[in-house]
Amino acid sequence: MRRLFPAPVPAHEAEDRPWEPLELADAYAYPAGADAAGADAAGRQAGAWLRANMVASLDGAAHLGGRSEPLSGPADKRVFGVLRALADVVVVGAETVRREGYRPARRRPEFAGRREAAGQPPAPAIAVVSASLELDFSLPLFTEARVPTIVLTGEAAPPDRVAAARGAGAEVVVAGRGPGVDPSRVKPELAARGHTRLLCEGGPRLLGQLAAAGVLDELCLTTAPRLALGGAARVLDGPEPTDPQEVELTDLLAESGFLFARYRRL
Ligand SMILES: NC(=O)c1ccc[n+]([C@@H]2O[C@H](COP(=O)([O-])OP(=O)(O)OC[C@H]3O[C@@H](n4cnc5c(N)ncnc54)[C@H](OP(=O)(O)O)[C@@H]3O)[C@@H](O)[C@H]2O)c1
Repeated sequence: MRRLFPAPVPAHEAEDRPWEPLELADAYAYPAGADAAGADAAGRQAGAWLRANMVASLDGAAHLGGRSEPLSGPADKRVFGVLRALADVVVVGAETVRREGYRPARRRPEFAGRREAAGQPPAPAIAVVSASLELDFSLPLFTEARVPTIVLTGEAAPPDRVAAARGAGAEVVVAGRGPGVDPSRVKPELAARGHTRLLCEGGPRLLGQLAAAGVLDELCLTTAPRLALGGAARVLDGPEPTDPQEVELTDLLAESGFLFARYRRL
């Protein structure tokens, strides 16, 4: 891994070698203020920061055969793991949970001290966004999570599925007036529960809605040196706006032909 943009400052950033997890963590730190100290009088954390992490093929595909794994590589997996280790909560769409077989985030000993100092539990909670609640609540994601898994849904979600989620130990958060979640409520609802360092791991349909609602602060995008061809969705798959949204490149790292870019909403 080495930094291409902006110019490397710590000496190791210019060296072409795999960075240690804590070096990567420094490079991907959340902005100052993205913590509980930013709470306003209503208990909503003004400083909540929603970052997304996605991998795309060179031709823009978000998956190959329904999985993102064929697009990933060793450095992408390290970034994926470090971004989780920095987050309070991982927000993910139900289809990604179903297709990728989500489990609770694991506790990583090398981040234990940092997380404790930041007032975070040993591992981030997983927050699944679902309207149907067609999720298998007997899976470890719900039954074995040390930090209870959150299920974000709407007021009209099927009551029996809400009961099943709660019965499995999940915390159900209602954040929408119909069956679905209002994307603009994801950040404040999670922030009100003390989760201000948010990481969205997709999928494209959920991420598209968050971006369309104007609440996505940062996109960490891995571009893999691979052509996926086919008709897979792009990393954001949401309602088409009249004008494109402007973003700013803040960082660009590279390893083994993979590019790791960070963009911020302007
Ligand atoms: N390249 C990458 O980095 C990456 C990352 C993640 C996923 N992926 C790939 O993307 C694919 C899945 O992505 P996807 O876009 O099809 O699905 P997704 O965004 O993961 O999930 C869509 C589902 O999330 C729920 N959902 C979304 N918006 C909602 C809202 N506003 N309110 C309530 N529920 C909402 C619905 O669940 P219910 O149906 O339960 O109501 C919906 O069917 C997989 O193939 C996965 O491998 C790639």
